[in-house]
Amino acid sequence: MKTAIKIPGKVILAGEHAVVYGKEALSASIDRCVRVVVKPGRGRGYPEDKKGLIKKAIEIAGGDGAVGVEVESELPIGSGLGSSAAVSAATIKAVREYLGKPVEKDELFKLTMECEKIAHGNPSGIDPATVVYGGLIAFRKGQPLERLGISKPLNLLLVDSGRPEESTKEMVELVVNSQNKEMIINKIGKLVEKIKDKLVAGEPAGNLINENGLLLEQLGVVGKRAKKLSSELRGLGYAVKITGAGGVATGSGMMIVFGKDFAQAKKLLDNGKINYFETVIGKK
Ligand code: PMV
Repeated sequence: MKTAIKIPGKVILAGEHAVVYGKEALSASIDRCVRVVVKPGRGRGYPEDKKGLIKKAIEIAGGDGAVGVEVESELPIGSGLGSSAAVSAATIKAVREYLGKPVEKDELFKLTMECEKIAHGNPSGIDPATVVYGGLIAFRKGQPLERLGISKPLNLLLVDSGRPEESTKEMVELVVNSQNKEMIINKIGKLVEKIKDKLVAGEPAGNLINENGLLLEQLGVVGKRAKKLSSELRGLGYAVKITGAGGVATGSGMMIVFGKDFAQAKKLLDNGKINYFETVIGKK
């Protein structure tokens, strides 16, 4: 007997890092998933368990060494698409179902949050909230999430600027001492309010999301490689923003790109052998 569970990844459209300081952020689940299979026997070599995330998730779900776990993921690891939250949530849900004690979303969110503390240190909760509840959400730390209905689904291009060397926890710590932190965080907070209004009204929000991207660069969470790529894409008329914690030493994780059509962007990315994929958010 085995149990299989799929949980989606996520993108943060606006407000990462500021959300750690109590501002609102906007995020959405995407059409790429993590699939966890639980069956009898010990799992061998989990793909993403350097931090002991899967072991912790099994424990939190009340499982033990008699539970075997296999993970398949369509999400790049550690690149801002919520892979750790999705793996934790899917493992907890699958183990609980396997043990005959299915878990509801509210409890799954709380348990996934426990697991996230390993990856994040001081997580706002936006990753577990987005992957557990799905859809497009407005999230503020410690408050009930708000589900947003948007009139038109949004097409995004997700571009890989390279896996960051730093963990989310390290990036959050880096921001603590960032110059002009308060001013930038406040500006991001105000932008998020405007972006939310635009999205709900079905109006284009690309320019504002691009501004959020530039503020993240000022905050010091975007590395040289991602900045160069962003400026090339902006030069072609696209709106660009990293999504997630970012990174400075090498890659900065995935970037979201908005535009009327992605033909020119794809040409540039293909020439530079840079990975990307398209996703749609806000689909009913
Ligand atoms: O783990 P990531 O890359 O999805 O980033 C999470 C968002 C942060 O605001 C940077 C951290 C948090 O806990 O909200």
